[in-house]
Amino acid sequence: MRYKPRVYRALYWLLLRHLPAEATHKVSFALLRAAVVVPGVRQALRALFTFTAPELAVRALGLQFPSPVGLAAGFDKDAKGIKALQTLGFGFVEIGTVTAEGQPGNPKPRLFRLTDDRALLNRMGFNNDGARAAAARLVHRPAGVVGVNIGKTKRVEEADALGDYRASSELLAPHADYMVVNVSSPNTPGLRNLQAIDKLRPLLIEVRQACDRASPLRRVPLLVKIAPDLNDDDVDAVADLAVELKLDGIIATNTTINRDGLRTPAARVAALGAGGISGAPVAARSLVVLQRSRARVGSQMCIISVGGIETGADAWARITAGATLVQGYTGFVYGGPAWAKRISRELQQKVRAAGLTTIEQAIGSAAPPNVQAA
Ligand code: FNR
Repeated sequence: MRYKPRVYRALYWLLLRHLPAEATHKVSFALLRAAVVVPGVRQALRALFTFTAPELAVRALGLQFPSPVGLAAGFDKDAKGIKALQTLGFGFVEIGTVTAEGQPGNPKPRLFRLTDDRALLNRMGFNNDGARAAAARLVHRPAGVVGVNIGKTKRVEEADALGDYRASSELLAPHADYMVVNVSSPNTPGLRNLQAIDKLRPLLIEVRQACDRASPLRRVPLLVKIAPDLNDDDVDAVADLAVELKLDGIIATNTTINRDGLRTPAARVAALGAGGISGAPVAARSLVVLQRSRARVGSQMCIISVGGIETGADAWARITAGATLVQGYTGFVYGGPAWAKRISRELQQKVRAAGLTTIEQAIGSAAPPNVQAA
């Protein structure tokens, strides 16, 4: 049996786009999770939607990634469906954002499609069951690379953020292949202030120590996820801090609060209210933040590029610009279940067309010489 992407496109245009976005997400994710429990279905989905090729394997963060194409944070906030998502061809899955305390997030509606922009607007506000619940689920996590993204509980004051991130780190690091400190969501008041170096330095030091205490025998890689709305100097400053603190990586970028250049009428966007925009409109800035970060940190540090990646060509452009790995969320929502497979297949073609034997050789190949992979 062959899967045809047209099936999803037709389903999207005829049905899905008319349904409320969050309910559609909830139902489709629940259906996928229910399906993989049925004997044989998991294998069938894997066969349909996974593309494996030796050229796509990447060694990064001390881990082996079967493909550089991952699922970005926010899709599986509570680590409820890792096994199900792995059947859709992702080389890795990042769960979260998880906060120390469970919380409901913002009032609904809080997720909207901007179809004309191939974008989403969300102000979910870290709705999740909390770190303890996520840790309990992660005890039973399947094999395969799983990142854990943590953020600040809304009711906790900015001054007490350290303790909140520390609590999450201690509970979750033992179960994570890598940890991400998210200081870039626009939907938790004050969170992005933590990107300022004088606040970020102690926070990252605290989380590093908490991870080491919680996982003394295995050093858990630590990354920081940044906003596309940082100005260039701030991007450089965070990158310098990552080097100074010997962080393992940077994830660039989260959603944007910028509303410029959208096709969706400004009045409609304004009526939807606050939130972060993801998908095609964030792509250009996300690429620039990647390039700046790579130029700053040198060739060795892992950078995960995310924001507006829709096609294999997009993913290739990020990798050659210096991304070690890529992630997507909105491209997957619009592209359907075969999104990761399609990108992986296109990446393999790019590797071959470039006369390379592995995608690792392409990392940073279009970047200035001083930051090309050794
Ligand atoms: C997100 N994103 C996100 N990021 C994060 O670090 N923690 C989170 O909880 C969430 N939640 C979330 C919810 C929804 C509905 C969306 C659309 C996005 C951001 C996401 O991981 C990614 O950084 C951006 O969406 C940009 O990538 P795409 O969507 O353009 O591929």
